Amino acid sequence: MIGILYFSSTGNSLQIAKKVKERFGGSIIYIPKYQGDGSEFQKIFIVTPIYSFGLPTPVFDLLPRLNKDKELIAIQNYGGMAGGADALLFDYAKQFGLNIKGIYTLKMPENYTLFLSPPKFYTKSVLKSSDKRIDKILDKIANEDYVLPKSKVKTAKKETYLKNKGNWHLIGGRFSVNDNCVKCQKCVRICPSNNICLEDGKIVFKDNCIACLGCYQRCPQKAIIYLNKKSKYRYVNPNVNESEIGKDIK
Ligand SMILES: Cc1cc2nc3c(=O)[nH]c(=O)nc-3n(C[C@H](O)[C@H](O)[C@H](O)COP(=O)(O)O)c2cc1C
Repeated sequence: MIGILYFSSTGNSLQIAKKVKERFGGSIIYIPKYQGDGSEFQKIFIVTPIYSFGLPTPVFDLLPRLNKDKELIAIQNYGGMAGGADALLFDYAKQFGLNIKGIYTLKMPENYTLFLSPPKFYTKSVLKSSDKRIDKILDKIANEDYVLPKSKVKTAKKETYLKNKGNWHLIGGRFSVNDNCVKCQKCVRICPSNNICLEDGKIVFKDNCIACLGCYQRCPQKAIIYLNKKSKYRYVNPNVNESEIGKDIK
């Protein structure tokens, strides 16, 4: 059985994970809830967004505990610029002695939209061609045409990534809810780092945010706001069933 381990806050990586399952079979597993080391799988896929030219915290935390004998293939997706995230992942994989065979990157719609909202037509066109880009990668994998980054990661870049990652928790303090909040607590349920709770009838953001923006993007009332900004733009991948984001699919 193939293990398709994914992280996703707005569905792009889930769209890719589902295509991997369609092509190669296997089980789709949501990384933040996964406690294992991948030993139960013949082969492991990691499907992940790129954060700050690197890895989201749950994916970063998974790597050191993964079984070192299992073949590993990673598919990273990004909204604007991969910025050498593949080289960084390769570097960490080597550091932890993982049996990494291939790393592929592809563009999907941008979900880091706290400051800028991409034009809708652009998001639509990126989505329209997304299956083609995914298929191209899956064809390569099926033909064992494995790709690994040639460039080495620079120490300074690694340090910048780690510094950014070390500051992500601060973002939690910049979220709040406005009067549209109906206390449905969806944000509490979907937060991958259990950073949100209902305390004394109020939605409270604590300080272990991993900056995935899942709460902000997926609040049914658009009631979660960032730094009191009034932006109404929210992004969730329309090619997946939103309620499946964060779930395992066996
Ligand atoms: C905290 C954060 C950091 C991000 N950093 C990058 C980045 O460095 N480069 C980039 O092109 N996209 C970046 N993105 C955008 C996502 O990688 C991209 O939209 C991805 O497809 C989202 O996948 P998902 O829908 O599975 O969560 C970032 C998004 C977030 C939330």
